Amino acid sequence: MNSIEKKRRIIKKLINPGHDFLFDRFSMNKKKEVSKTEIINLRKKHLKIIDNNHPISFYLHIPFCEKICKYCMYDKLLLTNQKQKKDYILDVKNFLYNFIDLFKKVEFSGIYVGGGTPSTLNESEMEDIFGYIFKNFKFNKDYQKTIELNPCSTSLSKIKKVKDLGFDRISFGVQSFNKNTLEKENRRYVDKETIKEFISYGKKVGIEFINTDLVLGLGDDDISDFISNLNILKECEPDSITYYTVMKEQNKTNNIYIKYGDKFYDNLENLFTKTIKGSKIKNKYNTTKLNNVLGYIFKHKKSGNSKKSFGLYSNEKKSIFGVGYKSISKVRNLGSYETSFFKNGKFIFSIEKLDNNYEILSYTLKSFQDKIDKIDFKKKFNKNIKDMFKEEIDFLIKNNIIIEDDRYLYYNGEEKNIGFYGLIFLSPKELLQIAKNRKEGIKS
Ligand SMILES: C[S@@+](CC[C@H](N)C(=O)[O-])C[C@H]1O[C@@H](n2cnc3c(N)ncnc32)[C@H](O)[C@@H]1O
Ligand code: SF4
Repeated sequence: MNSIEKKRRIIKKLINPGHDFLFDRFSMNKKKEVSKTEIINLRKKHLKIIDNNHPISFYLHIPFCEKICKYCMYDKLLLTNQKQKKDYILDVKNFLYNFIDLFKKVEFSGIYVGGGTPSTLNESEMEDIFGYIFKNFKFNKDYQKTIELNPCSTSLSKIKKVKDLGFDRISFGVQSFNKNTLEKENRRYVDKETIKEFISYGKKVGIEFINTDLVLGLGDDDISDFISNLNILKECEPDSITYYTVMKEQNKTNNIYIKYGDKFYDNLENLFTKTIKGSKIKNKYNTTKLNNVLGYIFKHKKSGNSKKSFGLYSNEKKSIFGVGYKSISKVRNLGSYETSFFKNGKFIFSIEKLDNNYEILSYTLKSFQDKIDKIDFKKKFNKNIKDMFKEEIDFLIKNNIIIEDDRYLYYNGEEKNIGFYGLIFLSPKELLQIAKNRKEGIKS
């Protein structure tokens, strides 16, 4: 076995236990149910400690979908009757009513309406809920106001409506142009002419930025579809194309995956390289690897600078005001809570405590997927990362799993996408024990 292969095997074996320790060590899974009053009190405390450097983003979840796609990893509910939407909108508005006064001096740093499928709402429902939000809450003009639209439930009049209500960024879920693939995944097919029309109409009515999503590894798609999906979308001229990879857990129908199993993910970089090369996308679009998930984003060379993004996964010390079914909220340094669906017409909240350690942890996990910048870490948290995680870092360096230079700490290997970053938070004792159990010859 060569040394890269050996290292990869060690790391793969450490990942799952790594995540458990991580959660224990930072007490991230100790959730408790709380009342709406406690959530309001938490926000009151929050408002006393924030300033312009610590913005709050607004997230609204619209959970309904007309069909449930087999590959989907999001929190969603099958729409079975129109009353579900009316009830949901009413509950969201009743909930938001409690915060209008509280947030009257706050300018939110962006809004993101995701799902599920926001485009399951008809125009008057959109007006009811989004009109209420834009009337009662303020949004900083430098940040994007995004809504996700599924082409299967989009119309020109809905595009115009979201623009008129105040959104300036649309994200369309295209996923694939292969009819058989979409059928296998239980999703309706929308042809390229329609997608093109939606995009050009969106631009015509003044939507500043239009993103489109593709997913690599669905249904019948093979490498020629991966390429043609990108090529067709390129001709539709969106401002950006985000090419995700279907997550392993939801990869149920793809022919390549069925045939080759996990080799699909081992070979992913190669698949993307072939896709990017085959599509000649680079002629028109700039290419960047996504930070937090497996995939790429292609940004149109002629597209202007977009406003600042919502940043749900960004490293910024941001708080999130999450509203609706399963939305996640973050109250800087004070806690995070998840809103589950209503029991008897009421939202249920479960809360977990956050402290500065949480900020450090999430920053480090996210950066470690690329590199940890020691200087930036110090600037942000006023601590040296090597003091905080001395034993762990020494151990990983000694075993040649991570490398340190003047400025960065980074993973020493080819494989970038296997979740190794959780490792750094294993205590060396545990690392050693696991290594001993597996007899993989890690140096103590
Ligand atoms: C909430 S969905 C988009 C909105 C809308 N419901 C739709 O389907 O068009 C967000 C995006 O996540 C991506 N996605 C969904 N499930 C995924 C999975 N299992 N793996 C990778 N990406 C996924 C899809 O590209 C999708 O457009
Ligand atoms: S991909 Fe979109 S439409 Fe399909 S189930 Fe997920 S949220 Fe619903």
